[in-house]
Formats: sequence, C-alpha cells, structure tokens
Amino acid sequence: MSWSHKKINIMSWISVTSLPIPLSSSSSSSFPHLTKHRKPKRHHLCKVSCHTNHDVPNEEPKASHNRRNVLIGFGGLYGASTLADNPFAIAAPTSPDLKGCGLPELPEGVPPTKCCPPKYSNIIDFKFPRPRRTPRVRPAAQYVDDTYVAKYKKALSKMKALPPDDPRSFTQQANVHCAYCNDAYHQVGFPKIDYKVHDSWLFFPFHRWYLYFYERILGSLINDPDFSIPYWNWDNPYGGMVIPSIFTDTNSPLYDPRRNVDHQPPTLVNLDYNKNKDSSQSPKQQISNNLATMYKSVVSCGKIPSLFLGSPYRAGGEPGGAGSLETVPHTPVHVWTGDPRQPHREDLGVFYSAGRDPLFYAHHANVDRMWNIWKTLPRGKRRDFTDKDWLESIFYFYDENKNLVRVKVKDSCDTKKLGYVYKDVEIPWLGEKPKPRKPKSNAKAKKKVSFAESFGVSAARAAEATSVTFPLTLNSKVTTVVKRPKLSRSTEEKEEEEEVLVIDGIEFDMEKALKFDVFINDEDEKEIKPGNSEFAGSFVSVSHSMQSNKKVKTCLRLGITDLLEDLDAEDDDTIVVTLVPKYGGPVTIQDIKIEFATE
Ligand code: C2O
Repeated sequence: MSWSHKKINIMSWISVTSLPIPLSSSSSSSFPHLTKHRKPKRHHLCKVSCHTNHDVPNEEPKASHNRRNVLIGFGGLYGASTLADNPFAIAAPTSPDLKGCGLPELPEGVPPTKCCPPKYSNIIDFKFPRPRRTPRVRPAAQYVDDTYVAKYKKALSKMKALPPDDPRSFTQQANVHCAYCNDAYHQVGFPKIDYKVHDSWLFFPFHRWYLYFYERILGSLINDPDFSIPYWNWDNPYGGMVIPSIFTDTNSPLYDPRRNVDHQPPTLVNLDYNKNKDSSQSPKQQISNNLATMYKSVVSCGKIPSLFLGSPYRAGGEPGGAGSLETVPHTPVHVWTGDPRQPHREDLGVFYSAGRDPLFYAHHANVDRMWNIWKTLPRGKRRDFTDKDWLESIFYFYDENKNLVRVKVKDSCDTKKLGYVYKDVEIPWLGEKPKPRKPKSNAKAKKKVSFAESFGVSAARAAEATSVTFPLTLNSKVTTVVKRPKLSRSTEEKEEEEEVLVIDGIEFDMEKALKFDVFINDEDEKEIKPGNSEFAGSFVSVSHSMQSNKKVKTCLRLGITDLLEDLDAEDDDTIVVTLVPKYGGPVTIQDIKIEFATE
C-alpha cells in the first residue's frame, strides 16, 4: 500500500451557515441570525458545540488557547496538531483513568451495577503475538461446520463457568462494555470528564482490541490458540442477513433469551431499522435496502477517515462525532436485535448490557471486518489517521493469563499483525450504488435553476422551508435550504476535499434512544428508500444514562459529494435538506451547513 503519510490538517473546514430559500427578498428580516450580512464568527459552531458538553460554548479562540495552555500539564503533549475542533481539548491522546473507575451511568430503573474490572497489581504493555505463517481466519457465522460450533460452545461454556470475579469470565467480558461505554471511567488528568469509546475515532480500535482479547481467552480455555470467533455477516444476503442459527439454539451457551422474538430467523435484519414492524417490507425489498445502506455507509459516505472512522477525540475534550458505519448499520443492528419486552431493549439494544449477549461479539466482528474492507476500496482517502492523538490513544484489557494489558490504537491497525484475517465472502453491496428516486432530467442545459428554486412549485413547501429558524426543535419533519459555498468542483477538487453536510449542535436527552433521517432535494420523503440517492444518512443513538439533564451535544457529518453528482446538483448554489424524526426526541439542532474536509 502506498498511502501518503504526509500529515494533513485534519479540519480544514470552511463553514457557511444555512440560508433561507431566496423566495422573497424580505425573508431575511425574519431570520436575523441567518441574514447574509451576519459576519461569520471566528470560531465555527461545530468546533464548539459539537465537541463539548461544557457550559462555556462561546469562549473566543484566544481564551481557549489560554485554557489549553493551562491544561498542558496533563499528559504528553503532541506537536502542533490543530485544536480548532475542540477548544477544551489539549493536543494529547485520550486514556481512561483505571484507578478512578466508578459506578456506570445507567438508564432509568436499572439497578446500580458495578462493572469496573477486577483489582490488578501491575500492568504490562502489549506485545504482538508471535508472527504466524498464515493468519487465523475468522469465519462467517452462517458457514461454520459442526466441529467449529462444538469448539465455540465448549469455549464459551468454560468462560461462563469461571467465577464472576475472574477477569476472563463472561461476566467480566460483558462488564468491559458497560465500564467503557457507560461512563464508569473518567479521562486521565480530567477527573470530571467522562471517558467514552463511542461517537468518535476510538470506536473501531476499541472494539477491535476488545474482541482480540475475548478471542484469546476463548482459545486458551480450550487450549486452541488458533480459535477464531465468527462474524455475523449481516451485509450478505446469502444467509447472512438473519441472526446466525448457531446463536438461536436455546440450549446453547451462545443463546441469549433477551432478544426480539419477532426478529428470529427467517426474519431479515433491517440495517436501517426504525423500530417499526418489518412485515410491510418484502424480503426482496429488505435485501435491496440493506445493500444500499451498506454501500452508502462504507462507500459514498466514507471517503475520508473522519467520515468513516469517526471524528477526533482528544484529551480533555468530548467525542467529535460517530463515523458513518458506527451510526448505520452498527447502531440499528443493536436496536433491531435487542428485546423490546425489556425496559431498554436489553441485551443488545442498550450499551450497558450489550456484551451479555454472545451475539454482540459476532456483530462487532463484522463491524471490525468493515474497517478492513473499507481500507481496500478505491477512490477517496480510505486509510487510517496518521494523527498521533489517535495512534497513541490507550485502552486496558485483561488477557488470557489474567494480566492487565495496556494497548494503543496504533497496534490495532493491521489485523494480520494481530494474527487474524476475515474469511472472504461475496460483498454484493459494492455494486449497489443508490439511484435518484426520480430519473435525472436529461435536459441538463435547460436546468438553469437549482432544485431549491424550482422547488417553488410547491409554495406551501417553500414557505415551510423559509420559516425554519435555528436552533430548531425537531418534533416533526423539517425542511430547510442550505447554501453551498463551492459549486461545480473539478474531479481533483472532489478527490481532495469531501463536501460535508453538517447537522450541528444536535442536543438531546441521553437517556432516550434517537433516530432521524436526512434527505436532500426530495419532494416527498415518504417514498424515499435507502436505495435512493436523496437519502443522505441518519443520526442514531441508543439510550445511555439516566443522569437527569444529562444532555449530549454532538453533530452529524454526512459526505455528500457522490450524492450531489447522482442528483445532478453539483452546479446548484443551494440544496434542500429535510430532517425526518423516526423515534425518540425531543432534539434541538443548532445549525445546518456545508463544510469541506480533507481527512
Ligand atoms: Cu460499544 Cu456496538 O457498541
């Protein structure tokens, strides 16, 4: 591979606020904060609101500089990487504070649960396993044979039979997710700031390491160092899009009763699940939706590292936002599988309990496999970050010898070095590029007006779009018009910089799950399917904690360069953006804008 290792300024963003539709020249007066006379602020809203829960969102850049200098004393400081993305973060990698592990923050009604790791006396640094001639191969769960299943069941029974305080026990393995994902840890050097592994660039490496040790422990319990966990091949219509049968045998240690009874095989998984009944969808339609969802998440929405792997998360800061695959299909698959008879869709449907279902590890093996596949795709900059704050980020896991091991992100990038690869199977979604719902008008020459202007045909709809003011509360469908700062970009420009639709300052109550969809240039969102280019993406979050008033503020970034090509909208100076709530809420949104990102 010949990835360029040149350091790129991660956030070379240009920001432009959304503008009301230019129907009447007086419209601006009703949007004082949106008029074009408004001076753009020096700091970008996203950099502030997206990355922090703190109460000082309007600190001027200079002040945040000072604050940063004050914070430099904590932990190692790395180089001159830009901090424009988070005024509270320092240029240093994150690390969980093991000693300060406390009670996790759980959803309402869940009895207090301890999930910190067992006591440790020393910590060892990770060493790569002995190099192998051929890596172990993690199999697709639908293709495994009886011998394999017998081995896996034996290993898992042994793991479940270990005393609960043994760090290798299934109880402790499940606790890893609870502790890391429900705020049991704070950040080293920042005793008041929660440490998180979701919604940022830590998502893929954290879960890779988690599975790595889970697998090593299983292997050691059956004296088979070659044992490899299976992956739930939910992106593959050839037997992959149902809960794998090895997990549904009620007498097996791989079974978990807390799953959605309506989603047992042969019900097909819905990778863009909206908590609705699935019966309305024919299997053929469901498969086609799933393939299009995959294409969007990995190919068209993942052209640069931050859009696929997630946005930066630095010491002292907040997670910068989830990447495309974490958002969809990763989170919908959790929600789809979890049991709606339980208060929070336990086990898989909520993070504190997700690790209690053996299916979790197969789900995440496929997520992990997507990271590998993504890096092999052509076009765009599909490579790992070269930012030290990512590479040097730290996690801790117990290994098969009950040693607590300190690992770094940088050692997780190549699975071959970790001793494994994924069994190759067909990847049918690579050919499933979404198509515009309405065929392109062939008269490109005639098309002198943008969609937003021609959209005036529906006066009611246009009036609706102009009446949007920010921050907006999303209770029902909202349509607005967003200005594009650069038009008709060349192929080179498009390869260099991705056009990103930023739904900024998304604020909601962390206790509740939330999903809303984002459509571009569409007149009737009811018709929209994942296979349509107009479907730009979704925001999805599962419920986290019950701390009253624990609001989270984050943002959603969607790569739209390909979509604009598909919709023949590259020359338009505006796009029409429609947000459609699917479940959860209330949610408020600070701004919607277009930025350009290089990494
Ligand atoms: Cu840590 Cu699928 O979640």
